Amino acid sequence: MDYKMLVAESLHDVLKDQLELNEINQLLEKPKYAEHGDLAFPAFQLAKVLRKSPAQIAKDIEEKIASPIIEKTQTVGPYLNFFLKKDQISQLVLKEILEQKDQYGSVNLGNGQNVPIDMSSPNIAKPMSMGHLRSTVIGNALSNILMRVGYQPVRINYLGDWGTQFGKLISAYKKWGSEEDVRANPIKELLRLYVTFHEEAEKDPSLEDEGRAWFKKLEDGNEEAITLWTWFREESLAEFQNVYDRLNIQFDSYKGEAFYNDKMDSVVSLLDQKNLLTLNQGAHIVDLEKYNLNPALIKKSDGATLYMTRDLAAALYRKENYDFSQALYVVGQEQSNHFKQLKAVLSEMGYEWADHIHHVPFGLITKDGKKLSTRKGKVVLLEEVLNEAASLALNQIEEKNPSLENKETVAEQVGVGAVVFHDLKNDRLNNFDFTIEEVVQFEGETGPYVQYTRARALSILKKAGKDAFPATESYSLTDQYSWEVVKLIQEFPETLVRAYKQYEPSIIAKHAIHLSQAFNKFYANVRVLDEHEEKESRLALVFAVTELLKQDLSILGVETPDQM
Ligand code: ARG
Repeated sequence: MDYKMLVAESLHDVLKDQLELNEINQLLEKPKYAEHGDLAFPAFQLAKVLRKSPAQIAKDIEEKIASPIIEKTQTVGPYLNFFLKKDQISQLVLKEILEQKDQYGSVNLGNGQNVPIDMSSPNIAKPMSMGHLRSTVIGNALSNILMRVGYQPVRINYLGDWGTQFGKLISAYKKWGSEEDVRANPIKELLRLYVTFHEEAEKDPSLEDEGRAWFKKLEDGNEEAITLWTWFREESLAEFQNVYDRLNIQFDSYKGEAFYNDKMDSVVSLLDQKNLLTLNQGAHIVDLEKYNLNPALIKKSDGATLYMTRDLAAALYRKENYDFSQALYVVGQEQSNHFKQLKAVLSEMGYEWADHIHHVPFGLITKDGKKLSTRKGKVVLLEEVLNEAASLALNQIEEKNPSLENKETVAEQVGVGAVVFHDLKNDRLNNFDFTIEEVVQFEGETGPYVQYTRARALSILKKAGKDAFPATESYSLTDQYSWEVVKLIQEFPETLVRAYKQYEPSIIAKHAIHLSQAFNKFYANVRVLDEHEEKESRLALVFAVTELLKQDLSILGVETPDQM
């Protein structure tokens, strides 16, 4: 049921000679004010071809148009406004969602093609930052969106587990570290060593050489280096896993940078065969001047490979293993240049599929005005943020619903959900600051607000003693409040496709907020539980809302407690 398309078809019957169906569909707008109806067609575009004023054209179309779903039309200046038949449309929309349940809105655009999604990808031996949280939750939401539109997402955690920093870490551990301390508090201790290394290296630059030498050993497979590195990696992963468990996120692959160590030589020789390497002060680079980019660094003068080299190897590996039609990299926008270079080098190598690689960038989050930086050891730990959110959620539950069962579990779902939702409701490119108190509010445009709205809708159904509604055509609604809800249900399929096309989970979050707001207005103004000829239909609408809010939230990776 796509009423916009139906109206577009009726318009097309009148405007066949002037406009394509799709053009008409794109021109149709949603009026800002309810008194202007449900859809509006602007007639400006036609003025030139038809040699008439837009207002006259709107009037002419009004006279000719005929459609069984249009209740009435109205012209306002250059616009032709449409008021639709609420009863008929609500009947069709409710039947459709009751029939399709959690598949409502799913379409097959992707034919099951693989889409590798490079997401999360924290650096081992360092705390996971807010940036990695963003990558994790945006990547997860995109995977869910891709699944709904028929693709097969492959969630890849491309761990930052290789590079000169591990040489530095090994060297720092050997100088100032102890096994006991690392075991007791792995990431904190490894971070301390890393920070110490940088402080000491400022005084004594020869330490840098030592660090580099250790990395070289690591790359060459030196046993001591490998043993320490493996241990640091395992300890780090175990800590990351806590966060992933709390977020309820799984990965299909943990192949990080280290996995590509033995695939580096072949990348370098491939570049060489294709005559793309230039020697610059002992380092091997690929010149990218014609792309207006800085050269890509492939191999340092000491022979060590770089971030770029590993990303090239990873891209080749993914193409070969997943035969993707698109590959996504959910990484902060500060790495935009890196991904431009990556694509440029792949193009230079002659791979057309370089165009199918998409960097999906996002902005920076700060908490209480502070950036989360690791270099100087100033960190806000992600786990602490989640703990704080859960404990604030618990306070609110104690206040609002002290007799609730499983309070702790619900508080975790609400607190963690609040952080995730907050992260996803903003356009991903926006930078923003947050305070945890504002994130965990039960009112306003928050995750808890949406969760709470759904729990409230469920409690209405419980009062009515209903938990299932057959998908029939017997429901129909006519009031304005129901209508606003029906329209948002009807818009969901199109919303999903838009979220996919723009790689933008905030579109789903906004849908959840709008649906919650429309539902709460409906419930404040319409007596759902009173005896009334539309009672059954109103309850069916409440049920549909619980289903769709669940879909919205689960796409975003936010849990849906039935009571809170
Ligand atoms: N580990 C990197 C960092 O934290 C992010 C990796 C992103 N993915 C990639 N294929 N380069 O900055």
